Amino acid sequence: MTHDGRSSTAELLDRFGYTSPGFGERYDLGRPSPPARLVDELLDLVGTPRVERVVDLGSGTGLSSAVWVGVGGEVIGIEPSDEMRRVAEKRLHGTTARFVAAVAEDTGLADACADIVSASNSVTWFDPARAYPEIGRILRPRGVFATYFHGWPPKVDPVVDEVSEAHVDRVDALLGREGGGARTDVANAHARLEAAIAASGWFEDIVVRARPDVQRYDVARLLAFVRSSGSATRLAHAGLDDDALGITALEEVLRVVVGSGTVDVELSYTVVTARRSG
Ligand SMILES: C[S@@+](CC[C@H](N)C(=O)[O-])C[C@H]1O[C@@H](n2cnc3c(N)ncnc32)[C@H](O)[C@@H]1O
Repeated sequence: MTHDGRSSTAELLDRFGYTSPGFGERYDLGRPSPPARLVDELLDLVGTPRVERVVDLGSGTGLSSAVWVGVGGEVIGIEPSDEMRRVAEKRLHGTTARFVAAVAEDTGLADACADIVSASNSVTWFDPARAYPEIGRILRPRGVFATYFHGWPPKVDPVVDEVSEAHVDRVDALLGREGGGARTDVANAHARLEAAIAASGWFEDIVVRARPDVQRYDVARLLAFVRSSGSATRLAHAGLDDDALGITALEEVLRVVVGSGTVDVELSYTVVTARRSG
């Protein structure tokens, strides 16, 4: 999904199923943690082995905040969905992480309080005109903003991928957005993201990198991954079942190809970093 510039965050969360009971647990079961080596790369970029504070925007169920616990300092997750935040609070209870009910456009945090601001799989939810100035405000001078997201759908092998692509096409067609949605022109989307960060006037050294990542999945978790897309969730809430969404066909091929074992899943991350001008 992409912020449409008209709907409020509450409307978007509702439309994409993020407020529905049990969504947080389902999401958490299927979605990957950000690649571990990304944390080291970002610490290198910020130039200090120990940071005082990391702010994770759109922290969801805490998968993306957990990677920052242990690098030192405080971790603050900004997350508007009660349903998602509840899972994060349970996951990271008793650690240096805490979660705030707020949005990226208005975090309520102090000026220049963060060494790193991260946004994992969440930046498309933000209103860019308001979020990037807010990120610039809360980062310390020379601090680093990093946004990263995995490709969709997750890649398994040519046979499974063909059925996954058919599922994505089906979802796009049902939402009336052939040529858009999951089929967004990736190069254009990256260029728009870079331009929006630059337009805020707070950042320099904006860099886009590809970061392939492989994680191990079994069939149940892969299906939870696919079902956790906001678009599939939205259609499921409208009454469409697994057959209509092409998920039954995907499950059948996964049962044959993966069976009761596990399989390497290619997640193809894109990482965009920007330094707050100092
Ligand atoms: C796809 S999830 C990503 C969660 C987590 N960062 C991860 O990588 O698994 C996107 C999250 O952004 C949150 N979100 C939506 N609108 C937001 C906004 N305006 N500001 C901050 N977070 C927002 C959603 O509630 C959701 O939890």
